[in-house]
Amino acid sequence: MSKIELKHIDKYYGSNHVLKDVTLTIEDGDFMTLLGPSGCGKTTTLRVIAGLEKPQNGVMLIDGKEMINAETAFYEMPGKRGLNLVFQSYALWPHMTVFNNIAFGLKIKHIQKQDIQSMVMDALEKMRIAEFRDRYPNELSGGQQQRVAIARAIASRPSLLLLDEPLSNLDARLRIDMRAELKRLHNEMGTTIIYVTHDQVEALTMSTRIALFSAGTLVQTAPPLELYTNPATLMAAEFIGNPRINFVAGKASCVNGRLTVQSDIGEYSFTEDIDLQEIPGGDFEAVLALRPEQIDIDVEPHDGYIESSVFASQPAGSETLLSIQCGKEQLLAKQIGIRDYSINQKIYIGFDPRKINVYSKESGKLLKHVRITHQ
Ligand SMILES: Nc1ncnc2c1ncn2[C@@H]1O[C@H](COP(=O)(O)OP(=O)(O)OP(=O)(O)O)[C@@H](O)[C@H]1O
Ligand SMILES: [Mg+2]
Repeated sequence: MSKIELKHIDKYYGSNHVLKDVTLTIEDGDFMTLLGPSGCGKTTTLRVIAGLEKPQNGVMLIDGKEMINAETAFYEMPGKRGLNLVFQSYALWPHMTVFNNIAFGLKIKHIQKQDIQSMVMDALEKMRIAEFRDRYPNELSGGQQQRVAIARAIASRPSLLLLDEPLSNLDARLRIDMRAELKRLHNEMGTTIIYVTHDQVEALTMSTRIALFSAGTLVQTAPPLELYTNPATLMAAEFIGNPRINFVAGKASCVNGRLTVQSDIGEYSFTEDIDLQEIPGGDFEAVLALRPEQIDIDVEPHDGYIESSVFASQPAGSETLLSIQCGKEQLLAKQIGIRDYSINQKIYIGFDPRKINVYSKESGKLLKHVRITHQ
């Protein structure tokens, strides 16, 4: 059991307000990823949870038990919070072998010797570093050391695991393998994991839920598919997705529950999936947002398709990215496989209007969402 509740957490370093009224619940068994650009407060949040930083405001509960109450200046000792932490910079004991680095934590928990042996070997095998068991940390590469640090954290099968960019030193191939490994671990052990990364692919592929931060503020908390399909703000939409989402300027108004937007990619009316409460009155500036993979391209004129031209084509083997000029707007489209187009070639683009998100330019908020259909 490990449920963590953060309520109205504020953290200042001097006058620098680095966590702003953060309220976040991590359910038992969640793989929660704290995601956001460098300096947005991810590591600080983790350090607050672990007890390495004292926030100036707010409350934290673990399984309903108060661990932080800034008002009464109560901060439970880190060792009594029942969690295991792997830092962005992993600190292995230099004078101990890999085996002993992992065994040490188990020994001080008074676990029987033969159990320690099997628990350490199990963790080493999971991280695919059993062959390095007798080496010292300085005889390992950065990526290997990083895997030792994860093995050390998982060996005791903690109910709560905090991981700060644990895969940052691995090469691309190993990183993909380790993502799969961590996902399996989470599934097998039922551990609650709080995982910090600025890599959105890592967040989208591994998490049960993602908490997206921007400059110390929690922007959105949602399952990966929902965050990808319906980012709550323009900032979230811009941050999630690679290649980036397309934004198109529009003039909008809403009359009798019908939201109408005019733009260079056409005029659209929506009566469903709109958030009437967020829609401003009268005419207003809107932003249409459309993912590159939603754009269909034809070289022949097509009913409902819009005439455009090729700005540049980037074939990359498994996919082709195409920059398209459509009126004053430039769009990016992604097509599977190798397609080739010439610069300035005339093309026709089409898409399903239901796949468009509409935002208010002024508030940045999502006004019309995309319905998620599970296959
Ligand atoms: N000990 C400290 N003293 C003063 N300022 C700090 C301290 N630790 C962090 N900060 C500041 O707090 C802000 C948040 O830092 P934090 O380490 O949480 O960012 P992060 O989201 O983990 O970034 P990254 O992806 O680069 O690791 C930054 O502006 C940072 O400069
Ligand atoms: Mg960090």
